[in-house]
Amino acid sequence: MEAKSLKHIVILATGGTIAGKAGSALQMTGYQAGAFSVQDLLDSVPGLDAHAKISGEQLCNIGSQDMQDAIILQMAQRCNELLAQNDVDGIVITHGTDTMEESAYFLNLTVKSSKPVVMVGAMRPATAMSADGPLNLLNAVKVAAEDASVGKGVLLVMNDCIYGGRDVTKTNTTNVATFHATNGGALGYITGGKVQYYYAPLRLHTVATEFDVAGVTQLPRVDILYSHANDDGILAEAAVAAGAQGIVYAGSGMGSLHAGCEAALAAAIAKGVAVVRSSRTGSGVVVESKKAWTEMGILDGDNLNPQKARILLQLALCVTKDRDAIREIFGKY
Ligand code: SIN
Repeated sequence: MEAKSLKHIVILATGGTIAGKAGSALQMTGYQAGAFSVQDLLDSVPGLDAHAKISGEQLCNIGSQDMQDAIILQMAQRCNELLAQNDVDGIVITHGTDTMEESAYFLNLTVKSSKPVVMVGAMRPATAMSADGPLNLLNAVKVAAEDASVGKGVLLVMNDCIYGGRDVTKTNTTNVATFHATNGGALGYITGGKVQYYYAPLRLHTVATEFDVAGVTQLPRVDILYSHANDDGILAEAAVAAGAQGIVYAGSGMGSLHAGCEAALAAAIAKGVAVVRSSRTGSGVVVESKKAWTEMGILDGDNLNPQKARILLQLALCVTKDRDAIREIFGKY
């Protein structure tokens, strides 16, 4: 029998704790994220080249709390260039965990290929006792090289679990089991070294979306406002004054607006700003609630958390300013 040839997986490194360096093996906080290079990461995984033909590229080396639209755009554009090559079968992106869920969703909507793109990070720096990065990276390469990963959109692999890029979120500040799909669950697992899927994403992604970021250098400004007692709309006014084209309102409960903020949001909408209700609860769906809010022109954010609703609103505003069209977009993706 002819031996199966190895897939070619490109590792795009962007920084994060997986490339983090601390002063000692016991230091788990206050370390420098994005200190080690892509080659250092590859060298930390024994036998990686038995699972795929690997090449590495350093896109940037930052803590992902400092993510910028320009870098997210560059990530999507580089993925599209690489995946258009016949000799590239998939991509693994090493990334800080703080904002990995946003990059995962952005790429899920803008990568124009069915080939696997897998995000991976670590919760403990590379220098730590029981660093989780090397095994996470090995698992991510296995997932990227797996035939069953084709056509599943952008995936995120952490702690032996495989999540869909739309649904996954970081839920804990320090625990290695921080990632969850809070409205569902993992799509699959890596168990005993084997990749196994149980579910697949249904919302449109990658080749099925209308979003094209080729040549795009800037995204529309969209701000997130977080509801709280005494919300008086001052921050909504500030967002509009700063040039926001969109506002995601992280409301209490099922996306409820504070009455003190309503006038400022109505004024924003009158100026053409798109306003989307989301929820600060961490899970669940936001659908129409008070008729008055819908009549004001406020859109409903479905089950996207505020940071994911922000990503979708940025991309939606790249293709339309029409409120009904944006509503439809929130129903599709
Ligand atoms: C970061 O997001 O870059 C820092 C935290 C982490 O990677 O876990």
